[in-house]
Amino acid sequence: MFPSSSAQNSMPIDLDTLNQRFYQSRAIADWYATKDFIMAEEQAFLDKHGAEAVDARHVLDIGIGAGRTTRFLLPRAARYVGVDYSSDMVAAAVARFPDTRLNVMDARDLSAYHDGEFDTVIFSFNGIDSLSFVGRLAAMKEIHRVLKPGGWFIFSFHNRDQKTPGPFSVCNLSFSKHPLRMLENLHRYLGGIFNWWRTRALAYIDRDYEMRHDSGNVFAAPNCYLTKTAQRDQLDALGFEVISIFNQVGNESSVPELDQTSSWILFACRKSGAAVQA
Ligand SMILES: C[S@@+](CC[C@H](N)C(=O)[O-])C[C@H]1O[C@@H](n2cnc3c(N)ncnc32)[C@H](O)[C@@H]1O
Repeated sequence: MFPSSSAQNSMPIDLDTLNQRFYQSRAIADWYATKDFIMAEEQAFLDKHGAEAVDARHVLDIGIGAGRTTRFLLPRAARYVGVDYSSDMVAAAVARFPDTRLNVMDARDLSAYHDGEFDTVIFSFNGIDSLSFVGRLAAMKEIHRVLKPGGWFIFSFHNRDQKTPGPFSVCNLSFSKHPLRMLENLHRYLGGIFNWWRTRALAYIDRDYEMRHDSGNVFAAPNCYLTKTAQRDQLDALGFEVISIFNQVGNESSVPELDQTSSWILFACRKSGAAVQA
């Protein structure tokens, strides 16, 4: 079970800091280190575009966590670099892949890399959604900069068209006949309500996006939710063209389809070469 975070010792100043603190945790990193699977939408992307986007390419993997994606990208890439802004996460990844280039780095500042240095940049499992909207744009501009013209940007994001249960919903409470397990579940459920209460002021609704709490991080902080249309428009403005879209079960989708049962959506885009708007 995903551990309840103890990262919220004191009320942080802003969303970015709060999220960074959430991932700066040995317990969270250890939990991610047990994850060894490839998601359906990631497999679908690799099946369709892996040969051109990953095989023998220079790949930058952002938000690697404990290295879940490293396992299936590293053997295929000509050059693989993994980064995460949580040193606990990077330490967990280094323990699994000791001879690999894995660095502590924030997606908003990729100044360690030259313009056009990578063929492909990946930001998996909605990692980009833990940034504020301003931070998200900064990260996407940096990703655009380090990509070659025509380079690939692959990422998933939370689907605003899916309804998510609020903090009080019993959907967030798993029932168990085992008394100790049930106590743990109850602790997590109440912890979620407590986390939400402390950070509820950070949630808001904008025309183009929403900062929304969900059970994925035990309501520790809101994540950015977008519709596919809004996400496509944002990418368009930044100089990316959306090539393929996959929903959570790995089916190919399109911008007009709402995919209301899909918690997140994977976009595979290419740097279009158009000027990046300020
Ligand atoms: C939901 S976890 C996913 C981890 C891993 N990609 C996986 O799929 O198992 C999101 C990861 O993104 C990282 N992350 C979030 N924002 C980041 C940023 N601005 N720069 C670098 N890493 C970031 C977090 O530290 C965390 O490890």
